[in-house]
Amino acid sequence: MLSDIIDVLADPVDGSPLSGADDFTRLVSESGHSYDVARQGYVTLADGSGLNHHGDSMAMVLARETFLSGGHFAPFVEAVTAGVHEALEDNDVPLQARPVILEVGAGTGYYLSHTLDDVADSRGVGLDVSVHAAKHLAKCHPRVGSVVADVWERLPLRDGSVDAITVVFAPRNAAEFHRVLTPGGQVIVLTAEQGHLDELREPLGILGVQEAKVERMMEKFDGLFDLVDADLVEFPMTLDRDSIAAQIGMSPSARHIGPEELASRLAALPPTMTVTARARLTRLAKVPRSPEDSPS
Ligand SMILES: C[S@@+](CC[C@H](N)C(=O)[O-])C[C@H]1O[C@@H](n2cnc3c(N)ncnc32)[C@H](O)[C@@H]1O
Repeated sequence: MLSDIIDVLADPVDGSPLSGADDFTRLVSESGHSYDVARQGYVTLADGSGLNHHGDSMAMVLARETFLSGGHFAPFVEAVTAGVHEALEDNDVPLQARPVILEVGAGTGYYLSHTLDDVADSRGVGLDVSVHAAKHLAKCHPRVGSVVADVWERLPLRDGSVDAITVVFAPRNAAEFHRVLTPGGQVIVLTAEQGHLDELREPLGILGVQEAKVERMMEKFDGLFDLVDADLVEFPMTLDRDSIAAQIGMSPSARHIGPEELASRLAALPPTMTVTARARLTRLAKVPRSPEDSPS
């Protein structure tokens, strides 16, 4: 709930602290701005100009939920949660401190809720620019606060307030991640690697993973974060046609292939297929750039 994370939220306009008002039906900042909490439990924290991006549609969020509920990506979720444990251990974060885990582009909250279940007493900020995702995030775990915000803007979070950030197949803002992390805090990023879903590319005509994605990501983090480790996570999945349809429905390919064309390509597939899942889990640690950034 938003009350669990209110001590880390900040006014998107000027960064001043937010607090709950009128039984948490509104969040108000010290500077006097007010943000209504939607009845579904999420809050939109954007400055007066609104949001420039929309993120995933309702259909994409539902397809994501269908696919993930099949457990096909379980090794990915285990790897992300293990990365959070390692990040907290590396930084000697005591669990009784109720560590704050921010997931950016959190989608349905599948990854964040698993991590919160595994890290006792942790609290989660599920941030996504999609209102449809935010509705799911608000329900995904009792210790999650759901926030609609754009990762390319100033994040509505206080300086040095977040113990670990996870980003799974979603956009990353290195400068803002550096600002909101505690000294020594880490970012855990899962990015698709070449070979991911390869067996589906030709028969369905879906987009491939660009080469050297991780290298390009590291350029953006240069000077702000040090690489801690980067591990390949690869496993086979047995997918039936419905699962494949859900996988395509939650991906950018959904925007490129018309529904009728997709249905006919899916109908031509065998009843089940073995498909490779392949991604890189990268851990990055905040580099101190001022005395306040240094771990004590
Ligand atoms: C590929 S999905 C991944 C969702 C989730 N991490 C998962 O793997 O199940 C990318 C997510 O990032 C969100 N997103 C896209 N652009 C964004 C932005 N500018 N700021 C915040 N979230 C964004 C989308 O709405 C979507 O939920």
